[in-house]
Amino acid sequence: MFPASLFTAVLLALAVSANPIIQIRNSPITLPLARRLNLTSVHNLVRHDVNRAKALRARAEAVRSGVPLDKRAVVSESVDNQAVSYVATVAVGSPPTDFNLLIDTGSSNTWVGAGTPFTSTSTTQQTGQDVSVTYGSGEFSGTEVLDTITIASGLTIPAQSIGVASQSQGFSGVDGIIGIGPVDLTLDTLSPDTTAEIPTVTDNLFSDGTISAHEIGISFEPTTQDSVFNGELTWGGIDTTKFTGSLTFTPITSTSPASEFWGINESIKYGSTTILSETAGIVDTGTTLILLASNAFDSYQSATGAVLDQTTGLLKITSAQFAKLQPLNFNIAGTTFVLSPDAQLWPRALNTAIGGTANAIYLVVNNLGTLQGEGLDFINGMTWLERFYAVFDTANKRVGFATTQFTTATTN
Ligand SMILES: *[C@@H]1O[C@H](CO)[C@@H](O)[C@H](O)[C@H]1NC(C)=O
Ligand SMILES: *[C@@H]1O[C@H](CO)[C@@H](O)[C@H](O)[C@H]1NC(C)=O
Repeated sequence: MFPASLFTAVLLALAVSANPIIQIRNSPITLPLARRLNLTSVHNLVRHDVNRAKALRARAEAVRSGVPLDKRAVVSESVDNQAVSYVATVAVGSPPTDFNLLIDTGSSNTWVGAGTPFTSTSTTQQTGQDVSVTYGSGEFSGTEVLDTITIASGLTIPAQSIGVASQSQGFSGVDGIIGIGPVDLTLDTLSPDTTAEIPTVTDNLFSDGTISAHEIGISFEPTTQDSVFNGELTWGGIDTTKFTGSLTFTPITSTSPASEFWGINESIKYGSTTILSETAGIVDTGTTLILLASNAFDSYQSATGAVLDQTTGLLKITSAQFAKLQPLNFNIAGTTFVLSPDAQLWPRALNTAIGGTANAIYLVVNNLGTLQGEGLDFINGMTWLERFYAVFDTANKRVGFATTQFTTATTN
């Protein structure tokens, strides 16, 4: 069915018989991602992002302190209710059923069945565990099974542990999630075996020998229109065609709760003025905007002269203010990643879709809602990742970034 995997299997068989020490790995493997815009619900874009930040914090706190599932903080927004999301089609079982799954760097369980129902097939093995994950007000619960999943042509995991939802809330339009965050976030999601970690898709690809590096590369492009294949996830390596210059790596921050996620240290200058001194935060595909601790957000707002638009919840500037807008300089491990004035704008083609005015100028920088010093003081969300290539390197506990051909594009 998949020539590439058959070819690899033949090679492996040959290699094994010739010399058992040789390992042939099929790496890296790239999966195209389809972008989804759900513009029916983005009037609450900001609320979604801020509540997600609260949910992530609560989840990290629960994982660390072992708070039981039903005692965890619940905040009122679901993981899918974001303006821009990226979805991959994953086949499960034999014969396979296709599921459209959200790519999420802020969680690590993979599960199906929110929309399209899951059917047991010849490859399904019960684990006897129940599973439950809370994402803000979105949540699912069901049973955990082992099954064969194919996440890109020729890329199969024979026994991936996945959740099968018996009920879920907040996932209209998608069938579940591929969680590509750190494996620790799966702790305490199973029962009765609450202390078991569930190896993620990335973990299994690596331990099965399908990929040779325990890392993921992610490329997104700026948003302009509906439903385009313009994202790409590379397992087991980086796609050098998707970035320019070299990658800057920074260790996962030691500051909690950011350290539970793809957390890094950075500082931010607006032009040449520091608005956020070096602190910890996260890089997150499930957040649309760029959220800054309230003190940094206030400095940004007064430096730009922006006003808070009540309708959209976004900052708004005049064209005269846009003409003077300075770059937002993110310093990460000694390298400055320049978010150009254009990259700070909400795509104007989508203004009316979020309840805004057609030719108004809205900004993607918003307020995290807490002061600096909480251990998660910024979120570099999708609008940031659409300008910089990112590498999530599990093996070396670090995250890497590079500029791309879109870093300075005047798309918005
Ligand atoms: C878009 O969001 C609205 C409101 O949350 C939801 O009812 C609808 O099903 C979503 N559509 C898709 C395709 O996700
Ligand atoms: C990040 O910042 C924190 C506190 O500002 C510091 O303790 C830590 O050494 C820094 N680096 C890493 C990798 O966490």
